Amino acid sequence: MSFHSLLWQTSFGGLIFSNQFIRIKTTVPSSSIYGFGEHEHPSFRHAMNYVKYGMFSRDQAPAFSNLYGVHPFYMCIENDFNAHGILLLNSNAQDVTLSPHPSITFRTIGGILDFYLFLGPTPENVVQQYTEAIGRPFMPPYWSLGFQLSRWGYNNIEVQRKTVERLKHYDIPLDVQYGDIDYMDRQLDFTYDKTNFAGLPEYVKTLKRDGMHYVIILDPFLTKDEPAGTYKAYDLGQEMGIWINNSDGATPAVGRAWPPGDSVFPDFTNPLTTEWWIQMCMEFKNIIDYDGIWIDMNEPSNFATGQQPGCANNNLNNPPYVPDITDGILAEKTLCPDSKTFLGDHYDTHSLFGWSQAKSTFYASQNVTRKRAFVLSRSTFVGSGKYTGHWLGDNFSRWRDMHMSIIGMLEFNLFGIPYVGADICGFNEDTNYELCLRWMQLGAFYPFSRNHNSIGSKEQDPGIFGEKFASISRSALLIRYTLLPYLYTLFYHSHTSGSTVIRGLMHEFTSDPQTHGIDKAFLWGSSLMITPVLEEGAKSVSVYFPEAFWYNFYTGDQVPPSWQKTFVEVPAPLDIIPLFIRGGAILPIQAPARTTEHSRLNPFGLIISLDEQEEAYGSLFWDDGDSIDSIEKENYFYAEYKFSNGELKTTVMKNGFPGTTTLAYENVQILGLTSKPNIISVNGKVIPSDRIQVFPSRSASWKLLVGHVKFKQRLTLSPTPPIAPPLRCWSPVLRRPLVASAPGPAGSRARREER
Ligand code: GLC
Repeated sequence: MSFHSLLWQTSFGGLIFSNQFIRIKTTVPSSSIYGFGEHEHPSFRHAMNYVKYGMFSRDQAPAFSNLYGVHPFYMCIENDFNAHGILLLNSNAQDVTLSPHPSITFRTIGGILDFYLFLGPTPENVVQQYTEAIGRPFMPPYWSLGFQLSRWGYNNIEVQRKTVERLKHYDIPLDVQYGDIDYMDRQLDFTYDKTNFAGLPEYVKTLKRDGMHYVIILDPFLTKDEPAGTYKAYDLGQEMGIWINNSDGATPAVGRAWPPGDSVFPDFTNPLTTEWWIQMCMEFKNIIDYDGIWIDMNEPSNFATGQQPGCANNNLNNPPYVPDITDGILAEKTLCPDSKTFLGDHYDTHSLFGWSQAKSTFYASQNVTRKRAFVLSRSTFVGSGKYTGHWLGDNFSRWRDMHMSIIGMLEFNLFGIPYVGADICGFNEDTNYELCLRWMQLGAFYPFSRNHNSIGSKEQDPGIFGEKFASISRSALLIRYTLLPYLYTLFYHSHTSGSTVIRGLMHEFTSDPQTHGIDKAFLWGSSLMITPVLEEGAKSVSVYFPEAFWYNFYTGDQVPPSWQKTFVEVPAPLDIIPLFIRGGAILPIQAPARTTEHSRLNPFGLIISLDEQEEAYGSLFWDDGDSIDSIEKENYFYAEYKFSNGELKTTVMKNGFPGTTTLAYENVQILGLTSKPNIISVNGKVIPSDRIQVFPSRSASWKLLVGHVKFKQRLTLSPTPPIAPPLRCWSPVLRRPLVASAPGPAGSRARREER
């Protein structure tokens, strides 16, 4: 990194440190600022025209205001293209103002100025360093990478059953079905509706026998108004004294939410609350055999301004300065700031509610299932990614919300919460055929891929719009399922070294300023570019191709070198989401199936896309997919692949998973060979030439049916004698044919590190 970058400069003044108001102002070295959350930002790179972002967790449908979580973290790309990140570890209500000098002003109404600096120098390094400090992202169970279906308002089990059947009828992959609050008896946690959802326990077992998983919602409020002795969750919590209290520190704060009557709120900052929560989750598991827990409304949400009888007029409830938050009242839609939690005043701990609940729920999920935890939380804070994934909340069935979802996902990858997605087809309002179809295509590439809908809206599952819609959705999801070993490996890297799972083009091509503002396309890891259609009626997408070799995912054709560093209008008929593989990558793949339970038994393959040096790199992590500690106990398989000089070599770095014995590679695709290889041997054995096929179209890409090569073996492909004619590659950068000894491209270094 350059010695001349001045990352922070506060010397021109602006510091105020008083009881309930702290302000500090700093210049920043450039206007390429990303992050701060949670808000619905109109662009990934922020505008610097005195824009102000409030941060205070809040039950609020996505808008340009403070939302469910709090992440006072930003990343800056300096003018010399080095990156750094800054965290203000502070949970109080706060706001930041971004000004054109360029500068940032932080204002918070409590705590201390606890700043952390992460020096990069690459964007990926920044996130790796940040998650090293705040906690690496959790390792998701394999099944949670499959497609998921939910809605608020199935209203009865028959509708839910029919919906699942519809997907099965069309053979659309489906791994996870959800129970939203309508499965409950009158929205009471740890109950189910024995009238409208009669038979739910048996139905969940049926789903599971069919290879699916079931996730239940739990809300963080318990009615106190059921007859004494009839509602254990409340009775036990009351006995244990685990509720958030009024300002007297003794009487429970009472608000109003979904359940009938008035509700109290468990205080998850109290260790006793975790015990209560685990016990209740365990007891309910005996009734419904669920696999994961969705925690909602945990800002915490209360349907009034403060608890009953309203908030007293004091400094905590009405501080001298209220940051720029919706409605300008701290107690709005939540509890009074002078309420008491185990960790301190709600004034200080409000935005930690979701984080503390996610932590408790992570351990509840593990204890209950004895498997890897699956928690999905609406409210998050710095460090939540260690325990939970996140969905972007109550979005709308509108075209713009598809674009916003990409920005939201890119930001949560910066925040160390890579398991993220938005409600596919939109939550609020009715969706429509085209919007929902394009959204199914985009959502097939969300790390967390779930179609979810609100009560009263028209049905929007991918089976409801008929055969054509179903088949297009199925195709997009089959691509996802084919690539799941690659996605799972990205999560392994994220969990162990903190890299992002999806990332903006700017992460990989930082020295190309054009990439800094791109937020309509994104990458899986370093190598798969997803360029969805985000506009009604559009049949093409304007795609920016940074300087690298790129291959069309569908045809294997190499993108013409003249497209590099330009925007090109790429065809995107209704049945296609354009996808491009970057040269230099080896992506592990697996034949898809209707659930991951089934796809995990299918043959593997590799997609090898060659860069200008005719090289490619990749890796594969594999384990049983749901053990709590397969990584700690080294019960996994991990291999690194390298293709160079016409040869593929596999180095098995860890061979600790017995389940690999039945697995095999069956095909290898090589994209970018300039001519047909006429002799190829696999592990020393020549494969018959009829097993070498040209990859779908006319291109210089080849599919090798390698037969049944055992997974645990080193897979080597070597030309014997050398692949003839010799490989030739034209470098658009050097404007001459490449020789084998030329140094690797800058990008390939980063990719090797990712391994
Ligand atoms: C909240 C959640 C939404 C859920 C609904 C009912 O609005 O954000 O996802 O469906 O509550 O539980």
